[in-house]
Amino acid sequence: KQVTLSLIKADIGGFPGHVGIHPNLIEIGERELMNAKKKGDIIDYRVMKVGDDLQLLFYHQHGNDSPLIHELAWQTFKKAAKEAHRLRLYGAGQDLLTNAFSGNVKGMGPGVAELTFSLRPSEPVVAFMMDKTEPGAFNLPLYRIFADPFNTAGLVIDPSLQGGFVFEVWDIMKHTSVRLKTPEESYQLLALIGAKSRYVIKHVYPGPDHPKLNPEIPVASVSTEKLSQIAGEYVGKDDPVALIRCQSGLPALGEVLEPFALPYLVSGWMRGSHNGPIMPVSFDDANCTRFDGPPRIVAAGFQITEDQLVGPADLFKDPAFDEARKEASKIATYLRRQGPFEPHRLPLQDMEYTTLPQILNHLKDRFTTL
Ligand code: F6R
Ligand code: MG
Ligand code: MG
Repeated sequence: KQVTLSLIKADIGGFPGHVGIHPNLIEIGERELMNAKKKGDIIDYRVMKVGDDLQLLFYHQHGNDSPLIHELAWQTFKKAAKEAHRLRLYGAGQDLLTNAFSGNVKGMGPGVAELTFSLRPSEPVVAFMMDKTEPGAFNLPLYRIFADPFNTAGLVIDPSLQGGFVFEVWDIMKHTSVRLKTPEESYQLLALIGAKSRYVIKHVYPGPDHPKLNPEIPVASVSTEKLSQIAGEYVGKDDPVALIRCQSGLPALGEVLEPFALPYLVSGWMRGSHNGPIMPVSFDDANCTRFDGPPRIVAAGFQITEDQLVGPADLFKDPAFDEARKEASKIATYLRRQGPFEPHRLPLQDMEYTTLPQILNHLKDRFTTL
């Protein structure tokens, strides 16, 4: 049976500030998606959240880029935005960049990760959701999961992973994409994806000789919408999501979570203009409080049957990730002490907004030639 998972998210108003989500918005999401399920438009759904982002997970049979599913997401966000306006939530409707819906939410503000595949007898999937950072924040963990044998033991000791994986990388400035195969092209891949604000992993595919899986069907997908470029002005960082299938010829669930034991640095945080550690947290702790952060990630684990999503399991709600949270807190404190200085603050070209043009304009007569 061919099924599709569509994880579609938007910030349609924070409570309070950019910290979290008001429960009324979750309720509206639940109501709308339950109606769609009753009508038979979708098989199942989950409404989730991280920070100020409302997360709609659709389980259906309409394939990727389905106008039906995208419109359902769009209309749900519109209804939630109306409530956000009523409650004067902060930035109400901020990620709904246009009024005219045209069949697909891409380029309209919301972020999307989708996977269409044939159900295996047992189908474990993880939905990752980040707040206060950008899509390139998934580059490091995806490399670790699918290409780094120091993270993923299966690459070395499971024969079905020996053929490696293929990474589809988008150049989000030039709007081009390229596929690179690991392990053979690891160095070239790393040369690109280390520049995470420009080269972003969109999909990961099984290697061409994978014994169990179709090499044309992605096993991981990341939302790569660039809000600031879509809108041509600052409207918030993109706060990405990702879907990753696991086990049985793919990295094990524990190998998929393992990269987050390191609170590596990502760009975003306060005013979308700072580097900070990504902190893996439980659903209950997914509020961005300290300096509007630090950037957070939650992991929702599912088993998928023909007619339901079993889950979510709150995967970072686990003392095994306490050390990572502590380390993230320490790094946050260390970086904060550097105030407005790079590399805590992002370099000029990566900041979401800057007063520099005004300052330079104000001082223009006072600059003298050296
Ligand atoms: C980061 C973010 C927040 C805001 C900050 C200032 O992505 O959304 O850190 O940038 O709270 O918001 P304004 O300028 O609306 O007061
Ligand atoms: Mg916000
Ligand atoms: Mg957000």
